[in-house]
Amino acid sequence: MNQHMSSPETHRLSISVNGRRVELNVEPRTTLADALREKCGLTGTKLGCEQGSCGACTVIHDGQQIRSCLMFAIQAQDAEVWTIEGLSRRPAGEQAPEVPEVPEVPLPKLPDLACAFKRNHGLQCGFCTPGMLIAGAALGHAADDSLNEAEIREGLSGNICRCTGYQGIVQSISETFSTEAANTTSTNTETEAAS
Ligand code: FES
Ligand code: FES
Repeated sequence: MNQHMSSPETHRLSISVNGRRVELNVEPRTTLADALREKCGLTGTKLGCEQGSCGACTVIHDGQQIRSCLMFAIQAQDAEVWTIEGLSRRPAGEQAPEVPEVPEVPLPKLPDLACAFKRNHGLQCGFCTPGMLIAGAALGHAADDSLNEAEIREGLSGNICRCTGYQGIVQSISETFSTEAANTTSTNTETEAAS
């Protein structure tokens, strides 16, 4: 080995991931996506295009959805980051008693959205699914549960799925976050109950 060759410069990164503070050594060129996957073992964050076009690497960073392939890990110093692993937890109070207490999870309806994906065949290979769930839940949360189909399709336009044709995904978000869909469901239920 060349004795003059130095090991790559690394920086100490302090970051909150899924409610827990972690310290990582990262190179300046390490993306947040790579740090989450390789240093934290959180492989639910997927890497597709690695240039900001597909949405597979979506995570929540200080309350906003971002593409983690476009951010260097050192830019996330002191940030609060949530990945699909943390966001999939049920909110406190709805967890099994043996699950340790965790801080309040953002996007509390994401687990409901995941159930809707299952019901409506909103996934096939599952590669886009973590990003779709986070983008869909962030969309619904920001809209205060009053999304229509056009808004869902517009809001998801930056997330690419190669398998499903999107209909099951849109239907799932609509069922979980649209008051219109909720009203339709409750009207149908009342009609069925009355007949
Ligand atoms: Fe980040 Fe595609 S991998 S947007
Ligand atoms: Fe395969 Fe979306 S389920 S890419």
